[in-house]
Amino acid sequence: MAIERTFSMIKPDATRRNLTGAIIKILENVGLRVIASRRILITLQEAEKFYEVHKNRSFFDYLTKFISSGPTVIQVLEAENAISINRKIMGATDPLFASSGTVRKIFGLSIGENSIHGSDSSDTAAAEIAYWFSEREIVG
Ligand code: CMP
Repeated sequence: MAIERTFSMIKPDATRRNLTGAIIKILENVGLRVIASRRILITLQEAEKFYEVHKNRSFFDYLTKFISSGPTVIQVLEAENAISINRKIMGATDPLFASSGTVRKIFGLSIGENSIHGSDSSDTAAAEIAYWFSEREIVG
């Protein structure tokens, strides 16, 4: 398996509770390397574009308002098999159904305020990384 890159975003519910370092530690402990990172306040327009795939879902307004409600930490993670390793350590979308030891089980508050986002496929990872980062900001 080749080295992969994936996109990760620590959400406002987690930055608000000062959990950035604790979450990154969990990611690093499973072998994911942070090769780009930026703390930003996402605008509503950026959130609507980023989550465009969900625009017809009932929770779209809630989701985009929440993501733009406070700081996020956007990152590129690198490892062998990074996309599936990251999905596994994040846990199920709804913290109620997440496995023990996962970020969402430990820190998630609800299906919306679930502490972390990660790309779900290699195509999505490439698109999400390119949406937020230039090549120069990614140092593997
Ligand atoms: P994320 O991985 O960021 O991708 C889309 C997000 O939509 C998802 O995590 C959840 O936080 C959010 N989401 C999914 N379903 C719901 C829901 N029923 N209500 C609120 N938010 C949701």
